[in-house]
Amino acid sequence: MRILSGIQPSGRLHVGNFFGMMQPSIRLQEEGEAFYFIADYHSLTTVQDPDALKENVSNVAVDFLACGLDPNKAVFFKQSDVPEVTELSWLLSTVTPMGFLNRCHSYKDKTERGLEATHGLFAYPVLMAADILIYDSNVVPIGDDQKQHLEVTRDIATKFNNLYGDVFVIPEPKIRGDKARVPGLDGQKMSKSYGNILELFGEEKATRKKIMSITTDSTPVEDPKDPSNSIIVDLFSLVASDQQLEEMKDDFLKGGVGYGDFKKRLFEAFWEYFEPMRARRKELCEDPQYIENILKEGAARAREAASATLKRARHSCGITS
Ligand code: ADP
Ligand code: TRP
Repeated sequence: MRILSGIQPSGRLHVGNFFGMMQPSIRLQEEGEAFYFIADYHSLTTVQDPDALKENVSNVAVDFLACGLDPNKAVFFKQSDVPEVTELSWLLSTVTPMGFLNRCHSYKDKTERGLEATHGLFAYPVLMAADILIYDSNVVPIGDDQKQHLEVTRDIATKFNNLYGDVFVIPEPKIRGDKARVPGLDGQKMSKSYGNILELFGEEKATRKKIMSITTDSTPVEDPKDPSNSIIVDLFSLVASDQQLEEMKDDFLKGGVGYGDFKKRLFEAFWEYFEPMRARRKELCEDPQYIENILKEGAARAREAASATLKRARHSCGITS
């Protein structure tokens, strides 16, 4: 089984990225041949500062490894080190009806938020389809906001296969069943575009401050509170033990405990949960050469797989005989 996923280096990674995409990917590396990459071509649609892009790429590389991506089990690489993917993207774009792309929410959301309506932003799902199809991927672990892009990928692959024969494997999305969408500090979906994120590896003081700033209602300390409708409980459930979670829910229902107290418990559990990963991150930061080597070796392996598929695709449509 070939497993593949990518993450854009478009800012600091947050708790939503971790539980939505990174943790499921890390778990899946045990179950098949995993290919994970840093989607820097995609990031150029939003990050147009070369220094920022480079810094984001190194941060994502360190963060993902610190969180448990094992380079002995998974092939880890940078998207742009396999330029074959851009050629495949072109081949796919020639069979992609505008309608497939017109229906994508992500383009509409981004342009409504003020991003320039570039061709790259519009064609983003075609490049993503190329990423997935070029590695003959069977399973793609992603957060639920990427579901539509997977549907488009399947539609493009089917269209290409119908025209030119059985060139591509049709991939399946793997979306976390529980807690598919991690809430941000304001209760909307956690996203760097909404300014409501909890960074995975932020400074202690800033992280505490962020958690203490979570939006709550004005129920007085002594009154019972509703645990089923609380950002604090939702976030706590990701990082606390079952017992700690039950205690928090009971204390919500009983009353007598204020939101400030619950936020402190959330901070403690959060900090403890990510402690081993923070320690590993610190070690990794001391050896940038090690990370560079991993990405280089990963790129060589990825390129081998990608070239074979590209060759098949070129041949099928008559570019090469
Ligand atoms: P952002 O919304 O912050 O820009 P990205 O779009 O870069 O995040 O997402 C990278 C990966 O993390 C994707 O697979 C996405 O589905 C997942 N992800 C992002 N935010 C969340 C969230 N709040 N809950 C669950 N998964 C998320
Ligand atoms: N679009 C994905 C995101 O924003 C990143 C991505 C690019 C990706 N190519 C991919 C994810 C291929 C899975 C498979 O998070």
